[in-house]
Amino acid sequence: MKRSGLILLMGAMMILSACQKKNTATEDAQMRAFVDQLMSQMTLEEKLGQLNLPVGGDIVTGGVHSSLSVEAIRQGKVGGLFNLKGAAAIRDVQRIAVEESRMGIPLLFGMDVIHGYETIFPLPLALSCSWDTEAVERSAQIAAREATADGICWTFSPMVDICHDGRWGRISEGSGEDPYLGSRMAEAMVRGYQGASLADSATMMACVKHFALYGAVEAGREYNNVYPDDYHAFNEYMQPYKAAVDAGAGSVMAAFNTVHGVPSMGNSWLLNDLLREQWGFMGFVVSDYTSVRHMEENGVCTSLEEGAIQCLEAGLDMDMVSDGFVALAPAVREGRCSMQAVDAACRRILEAKYKLGLFDDPYRYCDPLRREAVILSDEHRAEARRIAGECMVLLKNEDDLLPMQKKGTIALIGPLADARNNMAGTWSVAAVHDRYKTVKEGLEDALQGTGARLLYAKGSNVLYDARQEAIATIFGHDIRDSRSAEAMRQEALSIARKADVIIAAMGEASEMSGECASRVNIEMPDAQHDLLQELAKLGKPIVLVHFAGRPTVLNWETEHLPAILESWFCGSECADAIADVLFGEVNPSGKLTVQLPRHVGQYPFSYRQMRTSRPNEGGEFIKYITCYADVSSKPLYPFGYGLSYTTFEYTNFYLTDTIMPLDGSVEAHVTVTNTGSRTGSEIVQLYIGDLVARGVRPYKELRGFERINLAAGESREVVFTLDADRMSYYEPEHLNWTLEPGDVAVMVGANSRDTQMRLLHVVQ
Ligand code: NOJ
Repeated sequence: MKRSGLILLMGAMMILSACQKKNTATEDAQMRAFVDQLMSQMTLEEKLGQLNLPVGGDIVTGGVHSSLSVEAIRQGKVGGLFNLKGAAAIRDVQRIAVEESRMGIPLLFGMDVIHGYETIFPLPLALSCSWDTEAVERSAQIAAREATADGICWTFSPMVDICHDGRWGRISEGSGEDPYLGSRMAEAMVRGYQGASLADSATMMACVKHFALYGAVEAGREYNNVYPDDYHAFNEYMQPYKAAVDAGAGSVMAAFNTVHGVPSMGNSWLLNDLLREQWGFMGFVVSDYTSVRHMEENGVCTSLEEGAIQCLEAGLDMDMVSDGFVALAPAVREGRCSMQAVDAACRRILEAKYKLGLFDDPYRYCDPLRREAVILSDEHRAEARRIAGECMVLLKNEDDLLPMQKKGTIALIGPLADARNNMAGTWSVAAVHDRYKTVKEGLEDALQGTGARLLYAKGSNVLYDARQEAIATIFGHDIRDSRSAEAMRQEALSIARKADVIIAAMGEASEMSGECASRVNIEMPDAQHDLLQELAKLGKPIVLVHFAGRPTVLNWETEHLPAILESWFCGSECADAIADVLFGEVNPSGKLTVQLPRHVGQYPFSYRQMRTSRPNEGGEFIKYITCYADVSSKPLYPFGYGLSYTTFEYTNFYLTDTIMPLDGSVEAHVTVTNTGSRTGSEIVQLYIGDLVARGVRPYKELRGFERINLAAGESREVVFTLDADRMSYYEPEHLNWTLEPGDVAVMVGANSRDTQMRLLHVVQ
């Protein structure tokens, strides 16, 4: 059935509902009827074709690269393509599917739009440090607006994997270590991408990943196994996936790792029982890149076909790049694979296309005029700059060194100071690096016309070892300097000697975090560390602008440098945002969503430390009490921590009642006052410690937060409602979301360490 046939079918469906679609039930019924009609005309091969997702662009993340075959599209053997960039290219390919295949079914076009499209927002880890769900939603909305103007209707985001291990490079792609915060971020991203309706051509379908537990990879090593038992899985990792599903995410990506010893993509308990039956997920599940093939690598089957059958029967609907599902026709005909599973998967994918409006207009995302008007617009860039300013975390600011005045001589030093391709951060598939400023350019613009002098020296390479540096940088060759380390260092020192203050732009290069960027050394890279030590000997004030996509160890820096700004990777507008913060146009307000360790050996490590036998409150060495002999077990910077150019005081913290029946509620009130001299934003945090429960609970866990803006001297009362839902946990026996009677410590504060506590008695 070619396009004309499809239009007739759509027309018939529309007559069925001459008036506007009134409610979801009617819409669903119409969609089902449409898909029924369509499927009744499809061959087995065409149905399997819908389940096939080859790569469309030249971006590959695995060894296998399935080729974009025009003939396969004509034959109806492709359901979608991913990482093909550009409205014109996508329109061309869509035309082949719609006009030259028998059924004329449009393709889905997906992409890893992880933290923005061409306007790039901070890495998700950085974004979460804003604790600003509206900003996060807005960033996703803008990403959707840009991507859909360039042909994309489906993003492989949000990545909501909770992670307690800074060695894992992909910690950069999630919202940190806390399931409550991670859930709020997950919902915000889904809302941002999908808007009120997928039928709006400026919204795209979200894909929640990586289901499930990927953030728990053992030893932080990429693609490794995970071992949380169900109790810990549900209490620490599962909540953000569920929150994203509840927020209406249209698709889910199965993780590479096993759960209960079975690979996620072939795990019927995970996909059919938990996701669909228990959580009521109605969308489709896609595999990760080539992961249907990994069934064999995992040794749970002996051929691609066998693995593909197991995955399909387990509830996986779409096969990314493995070419496994598309070859299942003989297995279905011979009764080794059920037609029911093929039909269910095909239906879900066609429904997604229906919801996206692709059957109404397959080219609705390919309007070249929209592209021109929307992508990298001034409005989007301004929003990205504003949001980037909210994400940076001020870790240290001795003697109010920051904000800096725009005067005197400033030396900007470091291999990341003038490294354009480094700015966007990892997973910026659609980035146009030459449109983004470097830190040097951002500072030059900010200082223009002020009389202040900016001197610059690179000072060192990222790492001494050229091969390691090539791994660490997206285009390693254009950041690497061929001069000797000594020559570069001397140049930097001579420039620094002329300056009143030094800004060191140093840390991780962009590809030191992200996929397949696990590391056991998470300290300042060697060449930069040595340079920083030499600079410190000059005795001049140094501000470290620290680039990172993960929590890093900053012991030496904390001890020896007066000011540290954790700037993460804050996207296309990062340079201007750094200047905004350094010179005080923006008062920093970001707070850590992962604590920073003192030593890599502390991992896995979370502020949500579960109660243990032989507890150790101080974290120092005490024989026969939980601790390390050679390092404190406390973080260097705690979860929720971040400074401002102003100060905040928390007073008058009280509960409206000290007793709460299980079905009742109580309010926690606290007054926050801006006690400094500048307007600033504070993130007020609510923690609980469930003191008596059947399952072992963390000493402290986040259960609420509010971001408030206060003028100098202004006070605001912040109120959190405490009830069973806010304080429950997945109890160990049946994993029901439950609150049990007993005392609960209710805490508020500016971070997870500095809190005040009131006791609440929860009674039957
Ligand atoms: C592998 C990654 O794990 C996943 O997050 C990504 O969406 C796919 N590659 C596609 O690029």
